[in-house]
Amino acid sequence: MSDNVKTRWYKDAVIYQIYPRSFCDSNGDGIGDLRGVISKLDYLKELGVDAVWMSPCYKSPNDDNGYDISDYRDIMDEFGTLDDFKEMIAGMHERGIKLVMDLVSNHSSDEHQWFKESRKSKDNPYRDYYYWRDKPNNWKSNFLGPAWKYDNEAGQYYLHLFSEKQPDLNWGNPKVRQEIIDICNYWFEMGVDGFRCDVISYISKAPGLPDGFPLNPQTGSENYILGPDFKKYIKEIDEKSWDRYDSMIVGEAIGINYKNAPEYLSEKVEGLDTAFSFEHMYCDLPAMILNRPFPLPAFKKIMSNWQQLPLDCQPTLYVENHDQPRCLPRFTGDYGSKRKEASKMICIAMMMQRGTPYIYEGQEIGMTSCPFNESDYVDIMSLNSIKTASKIPFFKDTFLKIWNRRARDNARTPMQWSAEKNAGFTTGNPWMKINPNYTQINVEEALGDPDSILHFYQKVMKFRKGNKVIISGGYRLYLPKDKDLFMYERYTDDKRYLVICNFKNKIVNLYLPDNLYFRDSKLVLSNYPDSKPHVIDGAVREYEALVYEIK
Ligand code: GLC
Ligand code: CA
Repeated sequence: MSDNVKTRWYKDAVIYQIYPRSFCDSNGDGIGDLRGVISKLDYLKELGVDAVWMSPCYKSPNDDNGYDISDYRDIMDEFGTLDDFKEMIAGMHERGIKLVMDLVSNHSSDEHQWFKESRKSKDNPYRDYYYWRDKPNNWKSNFLGPAWKYDNEAGQYYLHLFSEKQPDLNWGNPKVRQEIIDICNYWFEMGVDGFRCDVISYISKAPGLPDGFPLNPQTGSENYILGPDFKKYIKEIDEKSWDRYDSMIVGEAIGINYKNAPEYLSEKVEGLDTAFSFEHMYCDLPAMILNRPFPLPAFKKIMSNWQQLPLDCQPTLYVENHDQPRCLPRFTGDYGSKRKEASKMICIAMMMQRGTPYIYEGQEIGMTSCPFNESDYVDIMSLNSIKTASKIPFFKDTFLKIWNRRARDNARTPMQWSAEKNAGFTTGNPWMKINPNYTQINVEEALGDPDSILHFYQKVMKFRKGNKVIISGGYRLYLPKDKDLFMYERYTDDKRYLVICNFKNKIVNLYLPDNLYFRDSKLVLSNYPDSKPHVIDGAVREYEALVYEIK
């Protein structure tokens, strides 16, 4: 492996995720677009992020908002043109911002030319690009229902682990792998700096596609999560593409956890550089559904396990993305009048850890999950789930309450730029509901307030940049069982930070643990204007976050 082109820039970078449909609409059709992104590049520069990960902007019939691609080499009509894209990437690079594209390669759209050919006949050269069978197995789709659909034209069933309009590509076919390699290289040559690889851990299926354990709620998943040829496929694409550029490759990787991470993510292993693990996103699934407090001890344990990995395994640090509800109120509970404190506390809790932090659009102004009526939902996962739940007698109303806490729609409400009509996102009719709290929570307000969440993010990112203690120092967790406080130390031989975060909307008493030794301390970051200048036992206020340098 030639490692000389890889600078591993992501090791000291903060990445901002754009969900283009909801970011900024430049032409009044109610849908965010690339020229909208271009108009906000100065904002991103000012915010101080190093790179952007953009959710898919390729041609797509939008069954799953761009995660169903019908042409991997061109831009979605609603988002603009290839020229707009070129202007956008040039504008980013001028400002020192890198661009990470979203590579959706487990499946294409059923409207992709490959699939249109594939369904024509058994001897069509594209037939083997997908999985066709006379009889389906018992696998379930991640979007509910069976994972197989009968196609009249083809006279067979095809596999779709997501929607019916997202047929799974057959990575066992070397031609498919070559297509993906060519697509990556095509975008690299246009200047992109990396890929976020969508559901990449699903690309290798067990030979023969055997039935799954029927009791697994995601029936079949043991036959395709990190399947038998996963490493081989990833190595091939790395050698022929990813590794030839100064790229960052981050896999969306259900199945990669702190235990097996070195096997997949070590710098010595060809393939992914980093991965979005799901462990911490699953730790509150029962709590979220039952409307119980966020299980902080479980969360701390998972984060801490990742922190203990060898330095050549880089964790990713994220609490939000387009598939998750907002972290407010999910992680913080009811924040009442303390939204800013809560949001800044999460910023400290995450940004002081080792890894590559991601900020999802709107997180930097403390956007929150949104109240939805049934008719407000637009996400295919929501529509399918509500449809299924409605079949259970008397369950629908309860389900709708639960779903409001879980729905991906929460993260997809348009970006709140100002208190003007439609939050300054569009002059037309927005494609989905805008969170009514935009009159208070918006970028304009945040830019004008020296004490805003946005300015706090800027400050913490500046503090983090180049800081060896944070980027590559050691990590020690204190009070692992404490339900309210997340307390950890970061250290090198000559510097130590103690991080204390109160995840609750109540005053919590801190008793310094016996195994914590220091002589002297100095407050270096906090989210209250009058935090205690030195570490002492005592009250930590609602959502208070404190970083002390200790000696
Ligand atoms: C990933 C994406 C999600 C999409 C799914 C299918 O999980 O993040 O938005 O629906 O893959 O492509
Ligand atoms: Ca538009």
